[in-house]
Amino acid sequence: MKPLRVNGERLWRSLMELARIGATAKGGVKRLALSDVDREGRDRFVAWAREAGMQTRCDAIGNLFALRHGSDARAAPILLGSHLDSQPSGGKFDGAYGVMAGLEVVRTLNDAAISTRAPIEVAAWTNEEGSRFPPGMMGSGVFTGVHALDFALAQKDLDGVTVKEELERIGYRGSGQPHPVGAYFEAHIEQGPVLEATRTQIGVVQGALGQRWFDVIVTGQDAHAGPTPMDKRQDALVAASRLVIEVNRIATTFPDYARGTVGQLQVKPNSRNVVPGEVRMSTEFRNASDATLLAMVEEYRRVAKEVEAACRVSIDVREIVHFPPSQFAPELVASVREAARALGFSHRDIISGAGHDAVYLSRVAPTAMIFVPCEGGISHNETESATPQDLAAGCDVLLHAVLARAGVASRQEA
Ligand code: GLV
Ligand code: MN
Ligand code: MN
Repeated sequence: MKPLRVNGERLWRSLMELARIGATAKGGVKRLALSDVDREGRDRFVAWAREAGMQTRCDAIGNLFALRHGSDARAAPILLGSHLDSQPSGGKFDGAYGVMAGLEVVRTLNDAAISTRAPIEVAAWTNEEGSRFPPGMMGSGVFTGVHALDFALAQKDLDGVTVKEELERIGYRGSGQPHPVGAYFEAHIEQGPVLEATRTQIGVVQGALGQRWFDVIVTGQDAHAGPTPMDKRQDALVAASRLVIEVNRIATTFPDYARGTVGQLQVKPNSRNVVPGEVRMSTEFRNASDATLLAMVEEYRRVAKEVEAACRVSIDVREIVHFPPSQFAPELVASVREAARALGFSHRDIISGAGHDAVYLSRVAPTAMIFVPCEGGISHNETESATPQDLAAGCDVLLHAVLARAGVASRQEA
């Protein structure tokens, strides 16, 4: 008998329809967490899940769950999902793919009249990106006990609006408590160049880099751009610029998949003829080794002291996120590899450079991820692109890995 396959065209249509919600002029998506368009995306997911016969609910941080019952009422659900929020200039696939792939697995099971032993539940986690409201992976962080609910609800965007206010405003502040999870699967585009460069269809994800995120405040002194001599300045932006260069140097000189990025700067007072007196900036480091990650951070703190002295400013480096490198569950990773092999897809082991909700889920349940290639390895970009064939292949692998874990209770003969 030929192995069951998902409907790749239907998956593609759903992705394209979802991408219209928050679509940008350059072909990408801006669906910031808890914005009006995030609400629209959530509404669409809930409507589709109900059409597929699923029961939907929302927990206290706005995570959405759509349940398809299994034959064993006591079995913990096999969870599959990702996120619907995007970066400000995001693409059509980051996050959306994992949620739509989960939905497509259920639609395929419905079409084939297959009932599973364990229930299957599709999750759309709140605020994975952390772009509007840091920290990222917020909904999965609350679900897995990494963050207290009150802490997450109190986080503010740059305008001072809280997560709680926005959840209430868009009507997605539910009340459900975290529940047991039998296993967690997340399908995602790779967001890096490895699969495309090696002409591989499926990435069997071993785990993800650890991350440490910082809020940095550089304080100097506002001064007039004309009369103030260069040697009398306490220019916060000059100091911040040196830090940006140092972050890049550290990340390019340390081993073990070292990464370092400054992605956000707020310059005050942000006037062209005032020497900037304050800069607030983000900094993040990533690494496959927690010890090397720590060494990178120590080096950053050391150079921050040097920059303080050289620029006569003060620099406050406050850590807001730290999660160590994660390893996914060997038996689940093996089931992804086996599904790829059995379906005849080229595959290779790979490490995720990005953070994913799977990182936190792996702390409470066996977890695995499936990557598919994206064009040029480009993501967090409006031009992010993936082929319908590769997306369908990843979803096929998801389907079979999920079936292996959930167990087939009954299947209607054709
Ligand atoms: C998630 O998008 C991350 O920053 O890794
Ligand atoms: Mn993502
Ligand atoms: Mn992302």
